[in-house]
Amino acid sequence: MTRVPIIMPAAERPTGHRSVPLLVEPSLGHYPEFRSFLTTAFDLGAPGPGEPGLLNVDGRIYELVFVARSGQRFPAGVEINALVVGLTPLDESAADADLWTILQWLVEGAGGEWSADALVTTGEIYRIPAARSRQPGPPAGKARRETLVFDLYGTLVDPLSVSDELARTLPRGDAQRVAVEWRRKQIEYSFRLTVMGRYEDFAWITERALEFALAECSCTLPPGARSAVMAHYSALQPFADVVPGLEMLSEAGYPTVLLSNGDPAMLRECLENSGLQQYFSSVISVDAVRAFKPHPAVYRCAADTIDRPIDETRIVSCNSFDVVGAATAGMRTAWINRGGGPFDTIGDPPGVTAGSLTELASALSMIEM
Ligand code: LAC
Repeated sequence: MTRVPIIMPAAERPTGHRSVPLLVEPSLGHYPEFRSFLTTAFDLGAPGPGEPGLLNVDGRIYELVFVARSGQRFPAGVEINALVVGLTPLDESAADADLWTILQWLVEGAGGEWSADALVTTGEIYRIPAARSRQPGPPAGKARRETLVFDLYGTLVDPLSVSDELARTLPRGDAQRVAVEWRRKQIEYSFRLTVMGRYEDFAWITERALEFALAECSCTLPPGARSAVMAHYSALQPFADVVPGLEMLSEAGYPTVLLSNGDPAMLRECLENSGLQQYFSSVISVDAVRAFKPHPAVYRCAADTIDRPIDETRIVSCNSFDVVGAATAGMRTAWINRGGGPFDTIGDPPGVTAGSLTELASALSMIEM
């Protein structure tokens, strides 16, 4: 049954209700078709803020607050709030489904280039959980797409950006040297522990590698700075191409999971802080097998976790040791060559080489499974 919000007269705003913010769109001016649909639907003739618009979805009431901004056409923004009686808690799943209904109504009203597919993307941008459950599945009659298995550090987020945090207390040149040495030693320790048949989690290795890198570069950090630097490791931000690339891959119907050396707590924090969590249906840590990449157990564990034959999965990594390791275990491969350097010489060339995730999405569209 199609649900359609019913417009209510502003005068009927129920008393004794509080507003719970659900969505804020400050840039309505960028979407004139939405602005004009809202202007007509709520009769927003006056050039300034007036009454909020009210919508009734299956008996639950939502208010649209129209934002005015000097020098911009009205309304310049819109906020959607749920109206909830007194101190009753918001029914989040009903509000989520209703918000989806409201967005659908807006997109249909705006018309033009706005389509159901665009709606899924819009819903994801606004982080409406209902949007994810409405992702289009594989097109009928087509084989299910391979699962893309993403590496995290260096591929999606930039571990060398810790040099900015280090540069708060060290000269810029030293901060950069420490950041590079830190990453190099972190990877080296993970290899060595695995060869020795010993396991310590990635946070432990990362701290020990920082200690080494500081000593190697003859640098010391003042008290408190080391924990700030470690904390920055949980707040690494995505490279600029990452979100657009993941959006393209999601629209193309690729299942996407994450497979990283990071321990579960590090991964959770990093994904939450970078906003990337929503793009992965599974987050797999090597902690499950107590060995680091490129041990074959790591890649087999990923395929087992998602219950797919390993040859229907593709590693996506900027680390050539990860690409060669995944190929050795039976995965297809994509190498994100962010640095422009040569590929390792101990394995087959990668199945796909791309400079960014957006390039990867285009390259995969050429070799569809
Ligand atoms: C990871 C390291 C290898 O995220 O970058 O697994």
